[in-house]
Amino acid sequence: MEGYLGSAYLWVKALHIIFVIFWMAGLFMMPRFFAYHTNYAPNSDEDDRWIERETRLKKIIMNPAMMLAWILGLMLVVHIGMGAGGWLHTKLALVVALTGFHIFLSRQAKAFAARARPKSEKFYRLINELPAVFIIIIAILAVVKPF
Ligand code: HEM
Repeated sequence: MEGYLGSAYLWVKALHIIFVIFWMAGLFMMPRFFAYHTNYAPNSDEDDRWIERETRLKKIIMNPAMMLAWILGLMLVVHIGMGAGGWLHTKLALVVALTGFHIFLSRQAKAFAARARPKSEKFYRLINELPAVFIIIIAILAVVKPF
C-alpha cells in the first residue's frame, strides 16, 4: 500500500497539520477554561456559562479535530509505511499519550458538568503547559526525522 496516495499525499499531509493545529488549540484552551471555572460556585449563572463553553469546545472543536488528525495521520502511515523510522514509532507513542490527555480533559469536563470541582485552579494552570512539551518533541520528530 506504500505510496497509494499518489499526488494526494501532500494534500492529506496539509489537512493533517490543519486538524492537528485545531486539536492542539483545544488542548491548550480547555485546562485554561477549567482554571477560571473553579472560581465560580456550582449552580451559579457563571457555572452554567462555563459548562456551556467547555461542552461546545469539546464537541465542536476538540473531538472532531482529534479524530480527523488521527484518520489523516493513519492514512499517511499507510502511505509511508510503518518502517519509515524510529521517529514515527516514537511520535505515535507520544500521540497516544496526548490522546490520553485529551480523554482526561474530556472526563474533567463531564465532572464540571455534574457540578463537581475535581481539581484546583493551580492544578489546571500547571497541566496547561503540557501540550507545549509534546508539540515541541512531536514536531521535531515529524519534520527532522532524527532517527
Ligand atoms: C493523531 C495521530 C497522528 C498520526 C497517526 C500522525 C502520523 C503522521 C505521518 C505518518 C506523517 C507523514 C510524515 C511524512 O510524510 O514524512 C505526519 C506528518 C506530520 N505530522 Fe503527524 N501524526 C499524528 C499526530 C500529529 C500531532 C499531534 C502532531 C503535532 C503536534 C503532528 C505533526 C505532524 C507534522 C508537523 C507533520 C509534517 C512532517 C513533514 O512533512 O515533514 N502529527 N504525521
